[in-house]
Amino acid sequence: MDAEVSAPQTVARVRYVSEDRTTAHLDLRSGEVVTCTTQGFDFGPGDVVFISAERDAITLAPSEIWHEEPWVGVVRLLRTGQVVIDVGGRLKVLPEPSSVDLREGNTVKGFDALGITEVLSEDPVRYIDLPAVDSVTVEQFKASTSGVLSFDDFGGYPEIVERAKELIEVPLECHEALKKIGARPIKGVLFTGPPGTGKTMLARIIADRANAEFYEISGPEVLSKWYGQSEELIRKIFEDAAMQARAIVFFDEMDSLASQRSEDSHEASRRIVGQLLSAMDGFTIESNVVVIATTNRPQDLDAALRRPGRFDWEINFTLPSVKDREAILRASARSLNTREGLAHEQIAERTTNWSPAELSAIWSEAALLAVIDSRDIILNEDYIGGYERVASHRKRLAANLSPDSER
Ligand SMILES: Nc1ncnc2c1ncn2[C@@H]1O[C@H](COP(=O)(O)OP(=O)(O)OP(=O)(O)O)[C@@H](O)[C@H]1O
Ligand SMILES: [Mg+2]
Repeated sequence: MDAEVSAPQTVARVRYVSEDRTTAHLDLRSGEVVTCTTQGFDFGPGDVVFISAERDAITLAPSEIWHEEPWVGVVRLLRTGQVVIDVGGRLKVLPEPSSVDLREGNTVKGFDALGITEVLSEDPVRYIDLPAVDSVTVEQFKASTSGVLSFDDFGGYPEIVERAKELIEVPLECHEALKKIGARPIKGVLFTGPPGTGKTMLARIIADRANAEFYEISGPEVLSKWYGQSEELIRKIFEDAAMQARAIVFFDEMDSLASQRSEDSHEASRRIVGQLLSAMDGFTIESNVVVIATTNRPQDLDAALRRPGRFDWEINFTLPSVKDREAILRASARSLNTREGLAHEQIAERTTNWSPAELSAIWSEAALLAVIDSRDIILNEDYIGGYERVASHRKRLAANLSPDSER
């Protein structure tokens, strides 16, 4: 049997039909748009059609030949003529549909070519597997810090410790007095500085001391585990904090959450910054909350976060001086079983540009050496050996860093 072959035709999708049905715009697969003027155009937006080679005849085609996946999203914002839809964490701005009635929070179905075609539910859909953010969830972020570390464990940096107490403890403790004076309260303190300089450690110690409710939020965790609910989570945490007599909200590794809201920055991150800004702007004179954030990439933070009334106080954690290094070595040996008269001064002198984290790593190596030697006490030889091991590890790391990867 001979197959019948018809004349060449083009596939198109109807995008727009004028009210009097005399003009229609059709999308071609090539991306081109053709306009068709006729009497009583028979097809509606979304229909797939064949157009004859002479473009004088249009017939309905099976929709499967140009299948388009629908998307499902939640209406976040309604403005005259425009709708903002959240589709899996990405925001789309679409023209307001004429045929569908929308309210904020509706779950809708739509197509890229057609926009919104249907309301699936009056309420927002939740991402599967993610539980609702409720008071139980907020409880998980209340960190118990009590008794683990104290200022005695934090060696050196007397100015940094003083300043941190001033900016965090004093406002929390003297809330009433400051309210009477009427000065703008301190809301956000940013801890900046290279990795391993004790930013996280000091924030935890201060929180413990301040006798305040402490909410600890790790940037990377919020983005992975709480993706899709991060704004709600942040809002709820701040609401909870505002109800406490004293509270510290602590964002560790803030840059991962709140990078510059540039074109290519993640949509979720942009929304988190927005939520954070509105939470911080929403503090009343009554709320006794200080927000601490740490970052070793302050240049990556969204500039809006640094404006007055937000994170306008900064404490910069530098690499330790020789005096600081000696104090750090002593402080981090405090809880260890060591022999008297260790060579702290000499080690401090040999460790220019070492971070506190690197200094405290000496003790882990020294302890290993002691144990290998069947001892339960660290001797000076273990200490020196520990120093040498960390020093050669640092050297290897530095050698592996090509000039390009150095910051
Ligand atoms: N002043 C200090 N005294 C004693 N030990 C310290 C001090 N600062 C840091 N350390 C040690 O270094 C470790 C790392 O510090 P921490 O995690 O606070 O650094 P960080 O500045 O938050 O680093 P990152 O930017 O990488 O998060 C601590 O767990 C502690 O063992
Ligand atoms: Mg840290």
